[in-house]
Amino acid sequence: MLNFSFHNPTQILFGEGQIGAMSDSIPADAKVLVIYGGGSIKSNGIYQQVSEALANHNWGEFSGIEPNPSYQTCMQAVELIRAQGYTYLLAVGGGSVIDGSKFIAAAAEFDGEPWDILAKGAEIKSALDLGVVLTLPATGSESNSFSVVSNKETNDKLPFASPKVQPKFAVLDPQVMASLPERQLINGVVDPFVHVMEQYLTYPIDAKVQDRFAEGLLLTLMEEGPKLFSEQVDYKVRANVMWSATMALNGLIGSGVPQDWGTHMIGHELTAVYGLDHAQTLAVVLPRMMLEQRDAKRGKLLQYAERVMGLDISNEEQAIDLAIEKTEAFFQSLGMKTRLSDYGVGADAADKIVAQLERHGMVALGEHQQVDLAKSRAILAACL
Ligand code: NZQ
Ligand code: ZN
Repeated sequence: MLNFSFHNPTQILFGEGQIGAMSDSIPADAKVLVIYGGGSIKSNGIYQQVSEALANHNWGEFSGIEPNPSYQTCMQAVELIRAQGYTYLLAVGGGSVIDGSKFIAAAAEFDGEPWDILAKGAEIKSALDLGVVLTLPATGSESNSFSVVSNKETNDKLPFASPKVQPKFAVLDPQVMASLPERQLINGVVDPFVHVMEQYLTYPIDAKVQDRFAEGLLLTLMEEGPKLFSEQVDYKVRANVMWSATMALNGLIGSGVPQDWGTHMIGHELTAVYGLDHAQTLAVVLPRMMLEQRDAKRGKLLQYAERVMGLDISNEEQAIDLAIEKTEAFFQSLGMKTRLSDYGVGADAADKIVAQLERHGMVALGEHQQVDLAKSRAILAACL
């Protein structure tokens, strides 16, 4: 196992009705800016619950954070905060609203051009405090320090990370999932599945706890995920999927193990250029990444084949092939498309995406930094 330092300071308020319990977690004298997206919270009752929970706080709101949050929209919120003196941010939404709010929290206190946080990795010295009401379990953003923000003018979709923007608390009420459209439910199973894979499917390092936690999350997502779309869906199913999504990217299973993230880096470029949902890009890229990296990932692929996919691994090559096929079949069984051509993306994608990767310095991806631009090109060509 590798050395590690693990600290997750986000308080989790889990369960039905917990939105009402969050006011104790926000300082009484805070001036709170509630940040949300396109307005789904107005029609599903979440806005109402948040308003009631904030009854004794001084608060205002900023709406319009779009999926794949844009720098341009986030900066409008920064202007509002500076003009009106907000001291605390409450993100009410999915990964996009949370990521946008993290950027806003840092940008509001940043001395200089905030885009440098994304483009140049500029140091974040301070940020406004942030709380979260999660409405779409998928990204894990509610209890991690990562954020991904897009510049719609330049086709950049760039990540940053800072402990200063890690949420102070996150409310996880599985009932919020009842209003999610099928497309977002599918995304909400695939994204955490791939998060686990990015931290698990590398090379063996004798990290038994991390491996078995990771396998438990994959098995739970495979067992409970499909029930979201059936008559079996109930509070228990939603609770298990929601908690899996948070645990998939809160730092725990990634501590002390090598990590990949190549699928994500290629996926971010696909979203920036073609507008595919984040999880849609992952379902396309991951099977092809697994195939391309089958030698580098051999040990873990066999472990995954046996322990997660339940395959007989006496014929190793066949077991690896089957494990990759079953992974793609799982995504498809949820209703997720797994080919670029399914989204009308043509053969020019390889050139365009490789140019983006090169522009962003993503020239040596994966746990061994072995996925160079030629390999990324081959992976993308195979995604058609
Ligand atoms: O805009 P609103 O009205 O909120 O509607 C959203 C949006 O249209 C809707 N929605 C959310 N909760 C709902 C709901 N509709 C009905 N009922 C509800 N309860 O769903 C749509 C998609 O929301 P979005 O936040 O974009 O989805 P997701 O949570 O999948 O977030 C994706 C973003 O997170 C980034 C992705 O790159 C992408 O930009 N990621 C962030 C990560 C992190 N911070 O750790 C890691 C991930 O790998 C990922 O990169
Ligand atoms: Zn992701």
